[in-house]
Amino acid sequence: MNQPIGVIDSGVGGLTVAKEIMRQLPNENICYLGDTLRCPYGPRDPEQVRKFTMDMTQFLLTHNIKLLVIACNTATAAALHYIRDNVDIPVVGVIQPGARAAIKATKNSQVGVIGTEGTIKSDAYTNALSLLNHQVAVKSLACPKFAPLVESSEYKGSVAKKVVAQSLRPFKNSGIDTFVLGCTHYPLLQPIIENVLGPRVKVINPGLETASEVSMLLDYFTLRNVSDEPQQHRFFTTGSPKIFGGIASDWLGLPQMVVEFAKIGQERK
Ligand code: DGL
Repeated sequence: MNQPIGVIDSGVGGLTVAKEIMRQLPNENICYLGDTLRCPYGPRDPEQVRKFTMDMTQFLLTHNIKLLVIACNTATAAALHYIRDNVDIPVVGVIQPGARAAIKATKNSQVGVIGTEGTIKSDAYTNALSLLNHQVAVKSLACPKFAPLVESSEYKGSVAKKVVAQSLRPFKNSGIDTFVLGCTHYPLLQPIIENVLGPRVKVINPGLETASEVSMLLDYFTLRNVSDEPQQHRFFTTGSPKIFGGIASDWLGLPQMVVEFAKIGQERK
């Protein structure tokens, strides 16, 4: 089935998941949409996040996707069940895979999680982790400054280093051995985060396990692309294709990317 896999996020964050899908599933086509115009989703009401997630889903359904990845933790926490209940294709979120990867990695059952305000308030990670291991101790923290740093292309410089070091102070000597990047924007800050946390803490990017789940579901639903045609990815943003394209080509290592503008929904605020 050469129909694309749909990937959605509030902005460029979902590219961290798309990159893993491209690596683990090189025969598949991706159709990506980032709702950059309405980013960040983190501080928004869950009801509004559900509506925006449905807007994105409907847009990608018009591009004939065969499976949808909600590559945004905030949207997964607020809307995964709602979207699953309302569309006919398989839908994958990022929180369960992230929790699974953390439980596999931890040796002392002490796990740190960072995410947006929406994700942390929802307790979705704590619930998913506890469901897998009743003994797990979870220390979670909202880091509302991180996604805007990434969206403004400032994920490598001294400002990013300062903000990350300050924000992650509560995890110093906290005893955690595993740390979940519970927002898909955060893997772009991963080298800085790892540097702050030190070598004894294993940092988890849920994108890796999410791509494995996608792979499994493609088999389960007999959806794998068996055609020999070269990959044809498409990238859409509701914001500036130029800014999105700059971050995307840096992150994906694709020098000549075409990013298309998408108009979805009406509500902006
Ligand atoms: N990338 C999104 C996530 O994984 C959130 C960024 C935002 O606040 O929009 O939660």
